Amino acid sequence: TDLSPTFKHIVWHHATVTRIRREALNGHRGAILWFTGLSGAGKSTLAHAVEEELHQNGYRTFVLDGDNIRHGLCSDLGFTPEDRIENIRRVGEVAKLFMQAGIIVLTAFISPYRVERERVRGLVEHGDFIEIYCDSPVEICESRDVKGLYKKARAGLIPEFTGISSPYETPLNPELIVSTGKTSLESCVQQVIDELKLRGIIK
Ligand code: PPS
Repeated sequence: TDLSPTFKHIVWHHATVTRIRREALNGHRGAILWFTGLSGAGKSTLAHAVEEELHQNGYRTFVLDGDNIRHGLCSDLGFTPEDRIENIRRVGEVAKLFMQAGIIVLTAFISPYRVERERVRGLVEHGDFIEIYCDSPVEICESRDVKGLYKKARAGLIPEFTGISSPYETPLNPELIVSTGKTSLESCVQQVIDELKLRGIIK
């Protein structure tokens, strides 16, 4: 069956308050900063630290974080490949809405599959999607093991754990790579801020 909007007789309604007008009111453009990396690579920590810096400088921001979103919007999903794909599909759509609202949205999800990250990229215009690879080797993530999940995964208590028993596909051409495993948080934040300036997302 064709479940496309046309078949379901759903027609797009155009807003008079456009993205451009919202961005003009905010004084800056919206964007999606997509942080990806292994569990424990520091995605959430970095996303929140970047948000803090942006907020203090007058930018409208919002963080969508894997652990939090899985309590609500995606509470019905687990960690099978199908569920991860659906998780990222939903988050991508929500991130797009936030961006259209004129907000700089920062997402912190493992998002292990290249093709799904590219699908989200394809939802928005060129330049709206900034993929930030939080590069931390699995050995470092595992040695930190902040939540004790690697230990449980090694003990076979968590099936399909990313980096242990489920794949992570490293980004091939991200806008930015930050060595969260080796570099200080302060320096990682600065690298992201510099990149946003370079790309004209912030001043
Ligand atoms: S995904 O792959 O993008 O859908 O995952 P995400 O929504 O980011 O959720 C990752 C957090 O869930 C916890 N967790 C697991 N991670 C990986 N594999 C398995 N099997 C798993 N089970 C639970 C873990 O705390 C992840 O949080 P982070 O912040 O990434 O460490």
